[in-house]
Amino acid sequence: MIVLGIESSCDETSVAVVEKKKKRVFGRVLSENTLSQIKKHQKFGGVVPELASREHSMCLDFLVRKTIKESKIKLDQINAFSATLGPGLLGGLLIGSNYAKTLALIMKKPFLGINHLQAHILVARMRTKISYPFLCLLVSGGHTQILISKNYNNFQLLGETLDDALGEAFDKVAKLLDYDYPGGPKIEKLASKFKGGKKIKLPRPLINQKNLNFSFSGIKTSVRQLVESSKVIDKYEVAAEFQESVTECLLKKCEGAIDHFKKKYGLSSFILAGGVASNKYIREKIKSLCQVKNMKFIVPEQELCVDNATMIAWAGLERLENGDIGDSIESQAKPRWELEKI
Ligand code: KG4
Ligand code: ZN
Repeated sequence: MIVLGIESSCDETSVAVVEKKKKRVFGRVLSENTLSQIKKHQKFGGVVPELASREHSMCLDFLVRKTIKESKIKLDQINAFSATLGPGLLGGLLIGSNYAKTLALIMKKPFLGINHLQAHILVARMRTKISYPFLCLLVSGGHTQILISKNYNNFQLLGETLDDALGEAFDKVAKLLDYDYPGGPKIEKLASKFKGGKKIKLPRPLINQKNLNFSFSGIKTSVRQLVESSKVIDKYEVAAEFQESVTECLLKKCEGAIDHFKKKYGLSSFILAGGVASNKYIREKIKSLCQVKNMKFIVPEQELCVDNATMIAWAGLERLENGDIGDSIESQAKPRWELEKI
C-alpha cells in the first residue's frame, strides 16, 4: 500500500509518499519534501496565520509534483491521499486537505483526513515494533498530554497542561531571552553549554499534586521576573534551569502514569512524541525513567518528531490497514480536534 501525505497545519508545508508492504510491520519513506516558513515568521515573533496560508498555497502544488517524481512511482499507484484535517490553523488545514481531496476525487481513491496529534504518536510505529496498548507523552507547540493509546484510533487522556503547551513555554522563554521563534532548539543549545553551579531556582508547578496535569505558565512568569529584575542574568543558567524544571515536572507525572496504569492496562511501552521530543536532554531523562520502570522506551528520530508529512501518510496507512475506508469529501477541517474524539 502506498499513501501520499500532506502536512500544512502550521508553518511547515510537507509532502511525503510512504509505502507499507503487506504483512510487513515497518513502513518505507519513498520520498519526502518539507519547506519551512520559519524565516518568514521570525520577524513577527511567532506564526502569522494569514502569511502561513499564503505560503502553503504558493508551494504545495510544486512540492506534491516534486515528491511524487522523486518517489519513482506513478500517481495511479498511490492507494490513498491523506492530509492533516486538524487541529491547527484553519487556512493551512483547508489548503492541504482540499488538495488531497481533489487528488482523491480525480484518481477515484480514498481521502483520509488525519488528526495531527494521532500522526505524531503513530509514526513511532513506522520503524519500531510496538503493540497496543501503550503509554504516550505528547509534547508539541500546541499540546502537552499523557495518554494511553489503546488502539490506532482509541486514545484515553490521563493528564494535560492546564495552560501553556511545553513547546509554547520553550518558545516564550527563548523570546524573553531575546531569541527568535522557534525557541526550543535555542534553549536546548544554551542549556547544553552551561558549565554547572546553578544559583537560580525556578518553580516546579503541580509537581506534588497526585493528578497527571501540568502547568508551565508560572515557570515562564518566573523567568520574566528574573529578566526584568535589575540583577545580571546568565542566559545559559536560565536556559539550563528552565529545561531542568520542566523536565522534572514531566518525569514526576510520567512516573505517576506508569505506576498507576501499568498493571491495569498491561502497558509495557512508552512513546515520547511531538516537536519537543527532539530535545536530547528530555529524551535521555525519560529514557532513564523507563529503564528504571522496566518499560520499553521509543522516541522517533528527530526529523519525525517535528512536523512532517511522513507521519500523516503513515497514520493514513495504519487506518487503511485497519479496514478504514477513508473520509467523506464533505469532511470539514477542524482547528480544534481532541484525540479522544477521533
Ligand atoms: O510538533 P511541532 O513540530 O509542531 C506542533 O505540532 O506544535 O512542535 C513545535 C514545537 C515548538 O514549540 C518548538 O520550539 C519545539 O517544538 N521544539 C523544541 C525542540 N525542537 C522543537 N523544544 C525543545 N527542545 C527542542 N530541541
Ligand atoms: Zn505537530
